[in-house]
Amino acid sequence: MMIKLVSKNFDIPEAYTLNVARENGRYASLERLFKMSPDEVMTEVEKSGLRGKGGGGAHTGEKWRLIPKNSDKPIYLVINADEGEPGTFKDRQILEFDPHLLIEGIICSSYAIGAHHAYVYIRGEYVFWMNRLQEAIDEAYEAGILGENILGHNYALHVTIHKGAGAYICGEKTALLESLEGKRGHPRLKPKGKEPEWFFGNPTVVNNVETIASVPYIINEGYGAYQMYGTKESPGTMLFGISGHVERPGVYELPYGTSMKEVIYDLCGGLKNGKKLKAVIPGGSSVQILKADEIEDITLDYESLKAHGSALGTGGIIVMDEDVSIPEVMKNLFEFYHHESCGQCTPCREGTGWVDRILAKILAGKGSKEDFNTILDACDMLNGKTICVFAPSVAFIAQSYLKKFREEFEALLH
Ligand SMILES: Cc1cc2nc3c(=O)[nH]c(=O)nc-3n(C[C@H](O)[C@H](O)[C@H](O)COP(=O)(O)O)c2cc1C
Ligand code: SF4
Repeated sequence: MMIKLVSKNFDIPEAYTLNVARENGRYASLERLFKMSPDEVMTEVEKSGLRGKGGGGAHTGEKWRLIPKNSDKPIYLVINADEGEPGTFKDRQILEFDPHLLIEGIICSSYAIGAHHAYVYIRGEYVFWMNRLQEAIDEAYEAGILGENILGHNYALHVTIHKGAGAYICGEKTALLESLEGKRGHPRLKPKGKEPEWFFGNPTVVNNVETIASVPYIINEGYGAYQMYGTKESPGTMLFGISGHVERPGVYELPYGTSMKEVIYDLCGGLKNGKKLKAVIPGGSSVQILKADEIEDITLDYESLKAHGSALGTGGIIVMDEDVSIPEVMKNLFEFYHHESCGQCTPCREGTGWVDRILAKILAGKGSKEDFNTILDACDMLNGKTICVFAPSVAFIAQSYLKKFREEFEALLH
């Protein structure tokens, strides 16, 4: 069943303009916000159990707590609107239909962590959505909702959009920060312990668009209201983008814990043209593939998908019918990953290209059984020996495709 906490205004005509947005509840949370201390806002978000919607599902409140108290350095909030993961198209719905919800979330979140400047890093291809957000930011400045003394309160916040150059890896938070600092978008080495992120050496929080857009509901209604939806470990809702061979693809806001079968067969109207389901990629292209018979008792939450050997990721669900060639899907993905590897780590830079070339050979009918071992060897090299998780994710997906659909690959050898 759809629950509209974030997508409530998506169907309202012109809800992207300030007047219509305000008529429909936008910025109402600010009244409650400024009656609370920043620490109280943080606690509210912490208690709600809000989890990041950018792929990893980190607890948002816990991340915010890593910002040092009484910092003598400026603090920044950075919104990740890079949305580069194949099969993922949810953040742009917020930018298109309700950009003021994102701005409202940015104000609440910046206030909580003590930031006075927020950056929105948008992927280069999102020109329409960038312009839509910029228009909303301009309107908000004009109405005194952004800038100095927001709505007469003793709090200042400035918001700047930064345009990416269309590199997938710049969605990875540390590559994004490098890029935002004007450098090449290379992921950074990760610290051993828990730390905030750093932007020009200043403590920083990086959050996904949808994560931040979920905050106003929590401030308005309280953490308990948010927890009414979803599961104990994954409270609330998420925007699921369903694409592929279903009758009604689209973006649906659903409580965590919704049955995957219900989503595919009821909400999305089942498979197109009466075809049979072959496979599902449940969380954007970087998670392990599931066979049709594996989805039987899967629910859309972090725990269920992990237990079934995959991940919820970005909630981008790609549905494939019986006519899809899995080796071709894998080849398509490896062309992408090879192209998008940032090239810092040799196993990733070379390994992704190596697997891509072997897949081309297999698809051309020139493969041998030995090639499967070579791909699996390359996966061993990709796993655990690189700076960021791009390479291990790619290794896991390759292993899952080969393991679950081995006979399809073998059929191409003859
Ligand atoms: C290769 C790679 C690409 C990523 N791309 C995105 C992206 O486009 N958007 C996003 O929000 N998070 C992306 N992430 C996750 C971010 O690194 C980060 O975890 C996230 O923005 C944190 O926000 P959240 O806690 O609100 O989810 C990516 C991660 C990796 C490893
Ligand atoms: S694993 Fe790949 S994408 Fe990540 S830093 Fe290394 S080369 Fe770049």
